[in-house]
Amino acid sequence: MNKLKILVTGGAGFIGSNFLNLFVPSSPDHYFINLDKLTYAANLLNLEQVSSLSNYTFLQADLADYQSVEHIFSKYEPDLVIHFAAESHVDRSILGPADFIYSNIIGTFNLLEGCRKHWMTEENTNQKLFLHVSTDEVYGSLGEEGLFTEETAYDPSSPYSASKAASDHLVRAYHRTYGLPAIITNCSNNYGPYQFPEKLIPLMILNALAEKPLPVYGKGENIRDWLYVEDHCCAIWTVIGKGKPGETYNIGGNSELKNLNLVHLLCENLAEENGKNPDHYRKLIEFVPDRPGHDLRYAIDNSKIKRELGWQPQEDFSKGLRKTIRWYLDNPDWVEIVQSGAYKKWIDENYSKRGAVK
Ligand code: NAD
Ligand code: DAU
Repeated sequence: MNKLKILVTGGAGFIGSNFLNLFVPSSPDHYFINLDKLTYAANLLNLEQVSSLSNYTFLQADLADYQSVEHIFSKYEPDLVIHFAAESHVDRSILGPADFIYSNIIGTFNLLEGCRKHWMTEENTNQKLFLHVSTDEVYGSLGEEGLFTEETAYDPSSPYSASKAASDHLVRAYHRTYGLPAIITNCSNNYGPYQFPEKLIPLMILNALAEKPLPVYGKGENIRDWLYVEDHCCAIWTVIGKGKPGETYNIGGNSELKNLNLVHLLCENLAEENGKNPDHYRKLIEFVPDRPGHDLRYAIDNSKIKRELGWQPQEDFSKGLRKTIRWYLDNPDWVEIVQSGAYKKWIDENYSKRGAVK
């Protein structure tokens, strides 16, 4: 029997590596090709448990380079594309949007062209699928009330979310125009192991442990809807198995929290782990100038994926947060490698203007 060949892009990043660690070992009938440019956000250490398995291979390539994409399609002839690769950090997109345009828009376009050329010439395309992993940030900001549904109009605020919105539009256009079998998923904020410490949760954990300032943007009143990363990965696996081409599925954890409350929760958890008073960490909180165009609130209505595909989040937020903190405490070597010179440069660039670098 021929193995199903799955091209995973961005598999060395946070969500992609969690996905591969979950599904490569448990899917010996599938062959996984991990295509990643290995940007600052990637880390092959994340993939130690799968790198020697016979149903896995890694290829370093830049999606913005069509020749590389074409070569990989010709050589591996994937049946399924799971497109995680992107520049993913909003603050970086504010300080320098160009990479977001190349990787997120041109990169997605090149991948779609690869699919069009290699898949749409066959008579039977129903064995193929392009799964585009996107974000709830394409919908812009909610007020105090309401939820993002699959029908919410696009209204992106940052260069990052605008680039993801553009890529979503391209995927939808390839489905409508060329019949490319494609599905889009729009997910809320993920947290868990292997997340690069530029994102709120790991940044706060590692800063607190190093007794550095905890930089809260604005008044800390912005709200995010948190989902444990493995729940997101299982949602994607469910969509691949049961989703309908041409459809969009919103994915979220029903775990809304104000940023400041989340930082307090982290302080309490860290204090418990380390036998300290929560105030020891709380006193590190610093309110710093806000992110320009900062969306107030994200919250996902996940009823469609629940109702139609039977997925629902498994991880309770407080337990998932505790597991995440333990993972960072248990992996000091990973942390040390990730916090290299390039990381320090970023922290200086983003936080010195905000007055929160020690
Ligand atoms: P990440 O930044 O941790 O990883 C992105 C990966 O993509 C890295 O390994 C990087 O090397 C690779 N990459 C970037 N540009 C590339 C290019 N031009 N060619 C090939 N590889 C390239 O991101 P993440 O948090 O794992 O997010 C993965 C996807 O999920 C992204 O598309 C993101 O928009 C989406 N998403 C993320 C979240 C979240 O909370 N992290 C939530 C919803 C959706
Ligand atoms: O909603 C999904 C999105 O979630 C993904 O598409 C993005 O790839 C991912 O980065 C994430 O975007 P956010 O901007 O919501 O995540 P971030 O961790 O950067 O910030 C979360 C909230 O915390 C946000 O309101 C900004 C705030 N924040 C962030 C940082 C890094 C702070 O207050 N201080 C900080 O230092």
